[in-house]
Amino acid sequence: MAGRGNFSSKLGFIAAAAGSAVGLGNIWGFPYEVGSGGGAIFVLIYLFFCFTLCLPVMMTEIAIGRKTAKNAVGAFEKLGYKNWRFIGMLGLLSGVLILSFYNVIAGWAFGYVIEMAKSNFAVADSFSTFTSDVFTVGLYGFVFMGITAFVVSKGVSGGIEKAAKFLMPTLIIMIIGIAVYSFTLPNAIDGLKFYLIPDFSKVTGQVIFNALGQAFFSLSLGMGAFITYGSYVGKNDNLVSSATLITLADVGIAFLAGLLIFPLIGFMSEGSMLNVGRGPALIFVTLPQIFGHIGGGLGSLFGTAFFTLLCFAALTSTVSLLEVPVAYLVDERKMNRKKASWLVAGTIFVIGIPSLLSAGYSQFFTNFITYVGAESATDFLSFIANVANDSFLPLGGILITVFASHVWKRENLHEELALGNPNYHQSWLKKYLNFVMPIIVPMVLGIVFILTILVNFFGF
Ligand code: PHE
Repeated sequence: MAGRGNFSSKLGFIAAAAGSAVGLGNIWGFPYEVGSGGGAIFVLIYLFFCFTLCLPVMMTEIAIGRKTAKNAVGAFEKLGYKNWRFIGMLGLLSGVLILSFYNVIAGWAFGYVIEMAKSNFAVADSFSTFTSDVFTVGLYGFVFMGITAFVVSKGVSGGIEKAAKFLMPTLIIMIIGIAVYSFTLPNAIDGLKFYLIPDFSKVTGQVIFNALGQAFFSLSLGMGAFITYGSYVGKNDNLVSSATLITLADVGIAFLAGLLIFPLIGFMSEGSMLNVGRGPALIFVTLPQIFGHIGGGLGSLFGTAFFTLLCFAALTSTVSLLEVPVAYLVDERKMNRKKASWLVAGTIFVIGIPSLLSAGYSQFFTNFITYVGAESATDFLSFIANVANDSFLPLGGILITVFASHVWKRENLHEELALGNPNYHQSWLKKYLNFVMPIIVPMVLGIVFILTILVNFFGF
């Protein structure tokens, strides 16, 4: 495998893969989905999907990657199914689109580190002024993409693994530190109740499929990120335990992010849990106001720490998003890794410019499209997020599971999962996969895919 690189250890792979999974989706997306999705009940449904549906998809992706030692596109060809390369191509496209807007949000987080360090809590009161200053936030995004390209250009063990091994533990320590602090604030308990005590009357169809969409995005599934990372894993590693640990890490950190944020909201709303921005504004508007409320040096310290942690989480995800097309160019086009990293990063930065402009600067991109039946326009960044996260990823997941069960065949999947895992053939997991993979997983994903499109774009 000279030239392609490998993770140096099982732990290195788990750190990098958990780094891919843990990102803005956990710390920014998860709490706001919980906030608008009825609290604890959303958490329960989300956990259910992560372990019953998503984990099998993750194992499948990693197995395809390790079996072939190829990128997301080449893997299908290597298995002997050239006509199925389009799944990898769809994954590449998803990765490029996701990174193009994800990096813009990461750039905002990066900017907030600076604002919090300057104790400029007022930035939250005029968030759209902040995001409309495209030259400043554009520069932040540019730097963020540059750091991402730098890490990827250093290769699998020297860049991706090394960065993840430093960033992930630091992130966990910071989250726990801030969460513990947030527990000490007045009315923290009301936030915890909202977060942890389920109210079953809040279950709706929308809550259920938002939870699945969140689980899928948060676990980085459906675009070949895990095919790519799996391709750098050693033949003796146990893929089942790795995938389980990655899922636990992802879910655990999302859960911790909630433990950090909801007590803060309880404090800010004086226990009512009302009148605080939920939705996407939660992190960029509500939290800084809370840090401002805490005030002085302490507010600035926690604010800076929080947004630094958000950047760390985002970086290990942007790295994995960039690695998917880079691995493709390195394997299939024989391009040098360094050149591929900088070239793709530069291109995606340019593709992301309309998203950058769509948060207030350009009216055209800010009110880009009005979906059928919608009352207001959707901005370009959200539009790309709707297309890539909510439509392409589930579609990719359906295609990957259908491919693995019916084209590549489950016996081959089992054989790969049994490497480094001698008890696999007797395990309940094997029976479970036989039960869910052929029809249940693709069908549930298919229903959610169709409903999401109908609801998102056609106002059902
Ligand atoms: N899982 C990442 C997050 O939660 C996002 C991501 C999606 C990364 C798909 C890679 C691939 O932020």
